[in-house]
Amino acid sequence: QKLDMELAAIEKGGFDHFMLKEIFEQPQTIFDSLRGRLDAVQQTITLSGVEKIADKLLAADRIIIVACGTSWHAGLLAEYVIEELCRINVEVEYASEFRYRNPIITDKDVIIAVSQSGETADTLVAIENAKKQGATIFGIVNVVGSSIARLSDAGAYTHAGPEIGVASTKAFTAQLAVLYLVALKVARIKGTIEDTLYDRLSADLAKVPEYVQQILDKQDMIIRAVAAKYSDARDFLYLGRGYNFPIALEGALKLKEISYIHAEGYPAAEMKHGPIALVDENLPVVFVATKDSYHEKIVSNIQEIKARKGKVIAVVSEGDSVVTDLADDVMTVPQIHEIIAPLLSVIPLQLLSYYIGVNRGLDVDKPRNLAKSVTVE
Ligand code: G6P
Repeated sequence: QKLDMELAAIEKGGFDHFMLKEIFEQPQTIFDSLRGRLDAVQQTITLSGVEKIADKLLAADRIIIVACGTSWHAGLLAEYVIEELCRINVEVEYASEFRYRNPIITDKDVIIAVSQSGETADTLVAIENAKKQGATIFGIVNVVGSSIARLSDAGAYTHAGPEIGVASTKAFTAQLAVLYLVALKVARIKGTIEDTLYDRLSADLAKVPEYVQQILDKQDMIIRAVAAKYSDARDFLYLGRGYNFPIALEGALKLKEISYIHAEGYPAAEMKHGPIALVDENLPVVFVATKDSYHEKIVSNIQEIKARKGKVIAVVSEGDSVVTDLADDVMTVPQIHEIIAPLLSVIPLQLLSYYIGVNRGLDVDKPRNLAKSVTVE
């Protein structure tokens, strides 16, 4: 018993929980996802999986991304990025819905399956069905040799290493890193991206590990204090626009999983169509409000929440005094191109959920009723 406990402590590498250890590993794991692929000096991206199906990608009328849970959120962000950079139609599907609704698939479709475990039953069956109908399958998977990896025609491993915490953190950011590489690579092959944007995005992507480290170093104590203020809340709302909308969804999911607090993620402008009815002085609203082309719009959304006495917690870019003045609490991230920004803005949200879960005395590594890998329907 004692030996088991000591072994567990060693495995956690000095952290109280695997979740916290894995959050803090992200500078390294994101680096590992990019390593050997992104050459920021030469401005080249090597991804043998993309090269292998390049003809299919060039001819594709659309890309369908299938996934579940946190991996679906990575897919949703990829829709925004791939459509913007590659000018290919993208649909993002919950694997469980896609597999049962007799979707129209042809041999011109490329399906991207995103899965940490590579064993999620719904995702696996969804791509099995699509493959039978002639689609090409590209797997973005963490576990090497897993079922989804084996079934894929081509793919790219995320290289996040084993993830023990049931709620995904480092596997998610690794998925995003790989999806950015795929988008940039395809955009380059298709000729849909300007050189200056390509150079800017690859340079910014290469800076992400260092920036994530800065967030962990500078914000950890601040986020702990924010968590302490809101640990007794009954509900949370998470709002974001554009590239940060999927991050609002992921922030809300993380909080639900870890703290059992009811949380909803919404596109910020949709709040007028329902969630705003919930706003009172007891409702914390988390805005993912980094400096981007939607910034002015999100500032007015924040004002609308403040006018109704809601509590505003905001993820902001360094130097953003406008949102900082409006918000009750802020968590700061370095300024980076808006397309890459989600890789930074999710980090404070992971920490916020973690500390709230811990404050509530919960088993953050193994939340009740959840499984790391859902291999049954
Ligand atoms: C479970 C896990 C989630 C994960 C989802 C999809 O619900 O608890 O963290 O996002 O499955 O898993 P996958 O392995 O396919 O990414």
